[in-house]
Amino acid sequence: MARNIIVAGNWKMHKTVSEATKLVGELKEALADVEDRKIVVCVPFTALHALGQALKGSNIQLGAQNLYPADEGAYTGEISPRMLADVGCRYVVVGHSERREYFEESNEFISDKLNAALGQGLKPILCVGEKLQEREAGRQKTVVSRQVHECLEGIDVEEILDVVIAYEPIWAIGTGRTATPEQANTMHRQIRGVLRSLYGEETAQGTCIMYGGSVKPDNVDDLMAQPEIDGALVGGASLKAESFVRIVRFQS
Ligand code: PGA
Repeated sequence: MARNIIVAGNWKMHKTVSEATKLVGELKEALADVEDRKIVVCVPFTALHALGQALKGSNIQLGAQNLYPADEGAYTGEISPRMLADVGCRYVVVGHSERREYFEESNEFISDKLNAALGQGLKPILCVGEKLQEREAGRQKTVVSRQVHECLEGIDVEEILDVVIAYEPIWAIGTGRTATPEQANTMHRQIRGVLRSLYGEETAQGTCIMYGGSVKPDNVDDLMAQPEIDGALVGGASLKAESFVRIVRFQS
């Protein structure tokens, strides 16, 4: 089963609607010929509606960065998967380490979000990754395997191919310190092993596992040359057209 190759920008809390519209205008023009990989921009809630319109008919898909796991209800300040689908979202990031850390999101809550996203036909990008102390203690495989197991609770074999996994070692996010291609590949193999134990070989081979954490134009080619790395989740370098376009056009 051929795996999807996906390059996604995670804009985090950046860009007003006009700034966002300008950036996707540049991306649309510069990336219009790309057919062999999927391109996604995960943008702030406030820009979703405008970009849903701006990206119609293009090869760039829209993603959100969070959701609340209910279709509607008395959850002041929250946004439901139904609302995201309504404005044209196809993807949604869940379990990003910044949300795990600053908003104390547990694997259980992340699993609820994943199930809710799938229930509305959204493709969740599930982020997993270890802290620096965990890697230094040699516990990275145990930590990440547990995150994958617990976050995929309730996801069956029909659904898993709509889930994208992003391995993002926390010590590499926004630090300029990337995992080496070999370190990333080793962890991706570990994650694929967990998927194999849960869903079987064919499904494990068909699931897209992206790498994230200081992906830049000058390291993307080496990362993407690894056999287990199927894409990139890009923070800082997705905020400017020039660097994101170069990353999307990685050569491996
Ligand atoms: P970074 O962020 O590329 O700025 O390290 C990646 C992420 O948090 O998804």
